Amino acid sequence: MPAPSRRQFLFGLAAAPVALSLSCSNVTTPAPRWDAGTSRPLPIPPLADSTVDRDGIRTFRLRAAPGVTPMVVGTNTPTWGYNGSILGPTLRARSGETVCVQFDNALSVPTTVHWHGMHLPARCDGGPHQTVQPGGHWEPTWTVRQPAATLWYHPHPHGETEKHIYRGLAGLFIIDDDHPSAGLPGDYGVDDIPLIIQDRRFTDTGALDESDRTDVGLLGNTIVTNGIAGAYLPVRSERVRLRILNGSGGRLYNLGFGDDREFHVVGSDGGLLSTPVPISRIQLSPGERVEIVVDMRSGEPVSLRSFPIANRAGLKPAEAARFGIDDTFHILELRPERILRPSAALPSRLADLPATDTAQVGLQRSFDLQWFMINKNRMDMNRIDFSTTVDVDEIWTVRNVDNWPHNFHVHDVQFRIIDIDGSPPPAELAGYKDTVYAPPGQRIRLAIRFADYTDAALPYMYHCHLAMHEDQGMMGQFLVLAPGQEQAPMTMDMPGHAMR
Ligand code: C2O
Ligand code: CU
Ligand code: CU
Repeated sequence: MPAPSRRQFLFGLAAAPVALSLSCSNVTTPAPRWDAGTSRPLPIPPLADSTVDRDGIRTFRLRAAPGVTPMVVGTNTPTWGYNGSILGPTLRARSGETVCVQFDNALSVPTTVHWHGMHLPARCDGGPHQTVQPGGHWEPTWTVRQPAATLWYHPHPHGETEKHIYRGLAGLFIIDDDHPSAGLPGDYGVDDIPLIIQDRRFTDTGALDESDRTDVGLLGNTIVTNGIAGAYLPVRSERVRLRILNGSGGRLYNLGFGDDREFHVVGSDGGLLSTPVPISRIQLSPGERVEIVVDMRSGEPVSLRSFPIANRAGLKPAEAARFGIDDTFHILELRPERILRPSAALPSRLADLPATDTAQVGLQRSFDLQWFMINKNRMDMNRIDFSTTVDVDEIWTVRNVDNWPHNFHVHDVQFRIIDIDGSPPPAELAGYKDTVYAPPGQRIRLAIRFADYTDAALPYMYHCHLAMHEDQGMMGQFLVLAPGQEQAPMTMDMPGHAMR
């Protein structure tokens, strides 16, 4: 059985100094608790420097190393980061470009860098088969072949992913394309804001508390945005776009604003939606992204909050409390100036998404999620769970047959949701996705197709993105093969070296 579940600490935690400026509450409408004295402007992850060589290859450098970060005012928390003490720079490239990332591991433990949401060859994927030893170097190179989107990168070492992300290793990878989404705010860090939302817990000395895992892993009582607690965002324009990542290990968020104002969802994991979707709440499970555009009112601050999770399906109330499903949090204060720069009107069309055509389907597979298993199996690095053929349309049926919340993520691909318990997905979930929430009892069908890249020996992963579940084995491996190609003996590239 899993680690014994405990009554959530949220209700019994002694007030540590670290929790003063920002803490969660189990009541649904607590007074805002930000404190001007300790509030800090939201840090914006810098855009990563890159060089472009004669062949047009754009090269980035990332170095994972330990550091110290004042995540909460007045503390110095030991953390891990890429090119800094926490998180990482935002990588940015255009669709069609070839990118290379020169990665160095300056940690004292092995790690990997996985490009979550990226369509790329298996050897570049950065999953558990591409482990980079301490002091090691890895240099994946691939061509970006997908539309504009907000992707992310994070470690994926076998059994250790939750810890590596919790300690601070995560960053965004933004893809641009040639379809100008005119009208969408697009000035990075000004009206186009990256927002990595994570939950953390601190010890009395301000260190990250890694004790007391629940059945969904480490749940924090302090929300950090872009690495710090208690942040505010100065806003200078009428409209702001937030590219939001749920970078937490096991916490779900149901995001909205303190005054319940409507906003527009413009993008999901893998790109823009076909039209902006007006909404007042948007739910995000670990690993999912959403892009929203929200109107500001001059001089009127507004709080981005998380509300109790609405989509619970078969989640029992007692379980819900244990998993933080009922928690509410203040996440970020948006502080518009008195005079706001005019923003363009929101476009009515954003992207042309093909209709999901289920008539052509070559194959169906199903994935039952339960405890730390998928289809009653736990991850085995030496077992390929199935092989699929490149360029074949498939339907994957994902069922949560458990009483725990789970989600489902697939590497190398952006899929579309066909239906959820037989009904078409809501508009905000109708675009490209790589991670989908699966509450207890629900059955979700995905239209999925693996294009371009085949590898007879190196697999891609599919897994629950509640990082502790993944670490405990709620993951499997599949190969993408050319028609007629046979599976080859698995090669462990344990790189530490350059490989192309
Ligand atoms: Cu976010 Cu297997 O990854
Ligand atoms: Cu991934
Ligand atoms: Cu799970």
